[in-house]
Amino acid sequence: MLCSSVAFRDARRTLTTTVTLAIFSFCAFASENTSSAERVSRGAYLLHAAGCVACHTDYEHGGTLLAGGRALKTPFGTFYTPNITADPKYGIGNWNKHDFITAMTRGVSPDGTHYYPVFPYTAYSGITADDLSDLWAYLRTVPLSRAPNRKHDVKFPFSIRLANWAWKLMFFRPVTHRTESTHSPEWNRGSYLVTALGHCSECHTPRNLLGATKSKYAYAGTKQGPDGEKVPNITPDRETGIGDWSQSDITWLLQTGFLPDGDVVGSSMADVVEHSTSHLTVDDQSAIAIYLQSLIPIHNSVQTNKEAEQSDVDNW
Ligand code: HEC
Ligand code: HEC
Repeated sequence: MLCSSVAFRDARRTLTTTVTLAIFSFCAFASENTSSAERVSRGAYLLHAAGCVACHTDYEHGGTLLAGGRALKTPFGTFYTPNITADPKYGIGNWNKHDFITAMTRGVSPDGTHYYPVFPYTAYSGITADDLSDLWAYLRTVPLSRAPNRKHDVKFPFSIRLANWAWKLMFFRPVTHRTESTHSPEWNRGSYLVTALGHCSECHTPRNLLGATKSKYAYAGTKQGPDGEKVPNITPDRETGIGDWSQSDITWLLQTGFLPDGDVVGSSMADVVEHSTSHLTVDDQSAIAIYLQSLIPIHNSVQTNKEAEQSDVDNW
């Protein structure tokens, strides 16, 4: 607005073409900058929604933002997240946007290495191209860190990266997120937040012996979650899931970490709430709740051993 009125006034005063052009190029520059600033701030929001912060920051040992080094214990060994700041030597400063999109959606590094699925590219392959661009724009603005990457401590044969290639052939199908016209916009937004960005299934779905999620039991909980912890059933099954929670019970948990009985959510979900869901808008938190409440209820208890005996899911 301001730019166009300035240009118009100046044109009326019959300034030379050169000056008018100079004003136009300044305006074009300013608007490009505004849109890239918007991209960066959307990217910061998405980074939280997608939980990158909690995995790629070693808060426990005073690590800086996205400098990596956080240990992730799994049945296959311990993984250490890499530095994803734009440092050219220690981070991903030498990458271009295409490299980033390939890593996020195909699980392949610029030198052709196949990533371990502990980096949830299985879910992130469903992130839209626009959102990936915004994430990339934000990553370029994070202060650089010179923290070197730590080698994973993974058991044979999983220590061979080629095994990831075989794993991907068997279990990885990149997802394209589609809007379902039979559902509301809120449901569709919730589906995108839960399945692609929030990768909730990574922890809440049981896995097979090779670590692939069992889609038949999606969100039904598991006794063998990250760090060997139990992860509850979040399908709307009344007895073993969250079927008796109201929509506001769910949004309240995502905002504050409080469960309906007044207790506080613990273990890795506390990190998810602190670094991810509590940063979301109320609309996005409600969209997640709407989507969760629409899931098919699956009877599977992971709460107590007694209840687990009644379970109809063989977790491992
Ligand atoms: C559950 C933990 C986890 C989450 C969440 C996660 N990552 Fe990662 N990420 C990893 C691990 C572990 C690796 C290393 C994989 C390997 O070595 O095969 C990795 C690798 C990467 C790489 C490749 C770095 C390199 O040097 O090759 C990039 C880029 C990356 N992650 C970006 C992201 C972004 C962006 C997000 C959020 C949208 C994210 N990650 C969320 C665990 C995670
Ligand atoms: C890193 C693993 C992890 C991820 C990712 C994760 N969760 Fe959780 N979640 C857990 C664990 C572990 C618990 C149980 C915490 C406890 O024992 O207090 C939990 C608990 C919950 C509960 C409470 C259920 C109950 O019966 O108490 C809800 C609801 C929930 N998660 C929803 C989500 C949603 C929605 C997402 C995605 C935005 C998500 N979780 C992502 C690990 C995870």
